Amino acid sequence: MEMVMDIALEDIQETNTKTNLVEREQEAIERIHAARAILGDDVVILGHHYQRDETVQFADFQGDSYQLSKEGAKVSAKYIIFAGVHFMAESADILARPDQVVILPNLRAGCSMADMATLEQVETAWAELEDVLQDDPVNRIMPITYMNSAANLKAFVGKNGGTVCTSSNAQASLAWAFAQREKIFFFPDQHLGRNTGKIMGIPLDKMVVWNPFKPYGGLTDQQIREAKIILWQGHCSVHQQFRPAHIDYWRKEHPDMTIIVHPECMMEVVDKADFSGSTAKIIEMIEAAPSGTKWAVGTEMHLVNRIKKQFPDKFITLLSPFSCLCSTMYRISPLDLADILEGLVEGRVMNQIRVPDDIKRDAKLALDRMLTIGK
Ligand code: 13P
Ligand code: SF4
Repeated sequence: MEMVMDIALEDIQETNTKTNLVEREQEAIERIHAARAILGDDVVILGHHYQRDETVQFADFQGDSYQLSKEGAKVSAKYIIFAGVHFMAESADILARPDQVVILPNLRAGCSMADMATLEQVETAWAELEDVLQDDPVNRIMPITYMNSAANLKAFVGKNGGTVCTSSNAQASLAWAFAQREKIFFFPDQHLGRNTGKIMGIPLDKMVVWNPFKPYGGLTDQQIREAKIILWQGHCSVHQQFRPAHIDYWRKEHPDMTIIVHPECMMEVVDKADFSGSTAKIIEMIEAAPSGTKWAVGTEMHLVNRIKKQFPDKFITLLSPFSCLCSTMYRISPLDLADILEGLVEGRVMNQIRVPDDIKRDAKLALDRMLTIGK
């Protein structure tokens, strides 16, 4: 009897907490509107496509990582609030004017993939590559970092002549790099690097994986010498959940369905899909498709759920039967946004993302190259 009562009490408490949260989020929406009315053009909110609806509804501009950095660089507002993850806010700060302030509403909104490569690990790898190639790697290897990386890695790349890339300009970036140097060192996402290299006709045995936890990446001298692309052993835990079997399932259930996936998915998934592309490309393709078409989408679930609502004339489903959620981006709630905006009304800046000047200078070289290379 006692146990039953305990469970019932727990249920009531859980329901109360949920109701409380819903009410507080509702209040937060009103607080956001009130604060924004006071702050006017002083504030711009940028939101990534994976951001949840309750938060991203306040974004003045919503886009993929490339569009957000391009848009961020043009913004004239004093405060740039980033409804995305840490590396996106850092990039905005690198590209911003010195008098602009970039804010991440919740400092726990990181990216597990970005955390898979540290400056120390990359510098060690670079020295080991130099040792094997018996040459200055700067003349032979082009470092390219995916946008999903810390600012100090962007600075490393900037100093060594390389560029940042995103999923929407990876091919242009690799072509740019190969026009200048014989090899590419690509970090931290092995899948984007491999998928892009494969489209460009690089044989699989010329794309080797560098394990940062092993001496010389776990590779032999010969493998390093013969490689065209050295891929960092990193991945996205959200996109890793999509499997070839999910594609087989939908192909059997709906042979007329089109499968589109993000290039952070493993090669076996990208190979089986009909299309792959950045978050913006996924949205654009589905938007442009005729009514009645069917789509299975291999990317983060908030984006998929949003386009499902946006295009009710099409059948759209998540590729996987499980929830594929970017749990770190999800951490930015309307409550965080309300607190940040009210702080600004009171003259208090909270959660500013400030990249140190020396890192900023070198990282800007790499980001500017990315914007110059274009898509
Ligand atoms: P996009 O550049 O396609 O928006 O992707 C960003 C990202 O983090 C994907 O996981
Ligand atoms: Fe990082 Fe993956 Fe989230 Fe993109 S979806 S921000 S790569 S953890």
